[in-house]
Order: sequence, then structure tokens, then C-alpha cells
Amino acid sequence: MPVDEFMETNRANWDSRAAIHYGSDIYGIQRFLDDPNFVGEVASFDAERMPPLTGKKLLHLQCHIGTDTIGLARHGAEVTGVDISPKSIELARQLSEESGTPARFLVSEMYDAPSVLGEPFDVVYTGVGAICWLPDIAEWGRVVGSFLEPGGIFYMREAHPIVWTIDDERDDDEIVIKWPYFEIDKPTYWEEETTYAGEGVLTSKGSYEWNHGVAEVLQALIDAGLRIDRVEDYDSLEWESGPINQLGEDGRFRLKEGRERLPLMWSILATKT
Ligand SMILES: C[S@@+](CC[C@H](N)C(=O)[O-])C[C@H]1O[C@@H](n2cnc3c(N)ncnc32)[C@H](O)[C@@H]1O
Repeated sequence: MPVDEFMETNRANWDSRAAIHYGSDIYGIQRFLDDPNFVGEVASFDAERMPPLTGKKLLHLQCHIGTDTIGLARHGAEVTGVDISPKSIELARQLSEESGTPARFLVSEMYDAPSVLGEPFDVVYTGVGAICWLPDIAEWGRVVGSFLEPGGIFYMREAHPIVWTIDDERDDDEIVIKWPYFEIDKPTYWEEETTYAGEGVLTSKGSYEWNHGVAEVLQALIDAGLRIDRVEDYDSLEWESGPINQLGEDGRFRLKEGRERLPLMWSILATKT
């Protein structure tokens, strides 16, 4: 199957998730509307790990319904979000308008973003379930690099690639490696009735994912002219990656036992040279 067809399947899948997510507690839309200072857990976690965002022109790749983008705007950035899913972008614009938080949102496939936008940014931001939808991480690195001028910042926080390798359909607490760690041409196909946030049945159930190893991601950025400034591993994750996780009081998922065994997320801070 050509890559374009994988992408089209994923676009339809994310379009069918968008409204369900917008109405879910997890995405917390009402909190953004009720409280002009609310930034959400993701933006709060990540803004602490980036240089100050005030006045910075920030591009959010794969922004979904814009909650993290709006959170970063509330940290002072002038934000632009892009996403392949028109329904997600429609809701992101609605959130910006109804919450009174200025933001620009554009429909664009990630690899097409340089031709859709064609302007530099001070900060490129992505993550929390984004790069697993991309077939070619080296090309992704080139896209990231193309948006930055020397001194520009890149930040990403993602599920650690080891998390995507784990068999999440076991009914015990064993950690068993089942899925690819390295990027390979053939994606993993999933079919799901429901989504991780909100109630409702997906009208487009299929999706394709690719994994990218730690070295593959770092090398993609290095080859695109970025200097890696900081890499961190975390023992917690924003979503339940399988029965090996349990929810903590802080709203994050961690391994039920032996948390020192495995990273669940990682982040990268890099600078364009
Ligand atoms: C889990 S969200 C990541 C954003 C954010 N962390 C969140 O949870 O809202 C994944 C997003 O990637 C987008 N996406 C998937 N493949 C894409 C592609 N090839 N180009 C642009 N966006 C894509 C989807 O439409 C979806 O909105």
C-alpha cells in the first residue's frame, strides 16, 4: 500500500476521534474556557523544560485539537498549529476563539508543512503521541530543521520507543516485547472501536503506526543541523499504555512495580546551529 493511503487512513481515524476528544474530560476543554490561566498538564510539563516562550514564534507540529498549542500560547508564545486532520483543526480554531487565546491553526500533512507555511519559527514543538504516525523520521528531521534558523529551538516529549514495543494485550503484568523498536517500512495496523479519551464509537477504526528508535530520532535531528542540548527519560506517561501501568494521584501513569526498569517517556531539547 502506498504511504499516501496509510496517511489517508490515519487522517480519517483522527477526524473521527476529534469531536470525541473535544468532549472528553481528559482534554479538559471546559477548563480552558472557564479559566484564562489554565494551560493543561502537557504544556505545563513542557514549558518548564524549554527556554522562556514569551514573544517566541512557535510552530506546533501535529497539534490535534489545539489544547497543548493553546497552553503554550498562554505561556506567552505566538503559536501556529498544523495537523493533517481538518476536523481537529476546526475544533482547535473553535477553542482559540471561544477561550479568547490567539492562535493560528492550519490543515497540513506534516511532511507538506514547509510548502504550506514556508516561514521560520523560533521554536518547533511536537510530541505526546505524534511521531508514531510518521513513516520516515529522517525526513521528519529535515522538516523540523527547515523551520528553524540558527539559534532556533526544537523540543519534543514523546512516548519512549520501548513503550511501543510492548505487548499491551496480555492479562498479566509481564513486560513482553512484541512490536518493532526500529523504524521499518511496514507499519503496524490497529483497529479500535473506541479512543483513549471520551465516550463514543469511532467511525474510522483503522490506523497505521511506525516506531522510531532513540538513535534514529536523535540522528535525524543531528543530520538536519541541530545540536542536541538535553535528553531526558521519564518514568511516567500521560496515557495508559497497557495493563502494566497504573494511574497515580498526579494524573500520570506509571509501571505498577519496578519503575526503575523502564522509561515510559523521553524528551529532547535541541538548537539549530
Ligand atoms: C495524539 S495527537 C498529538 C497531539 C497532542 N499531543 C494531543 O494529544 O492532542 C496526534 C495528532 O497527529 C496528527 N497526525 C497524524 N499523522 C499526521 C501527519 N502525517 N501529518 C500531520 N498530522 C498528523 C493526528 O491528526 C493527530 O491530531
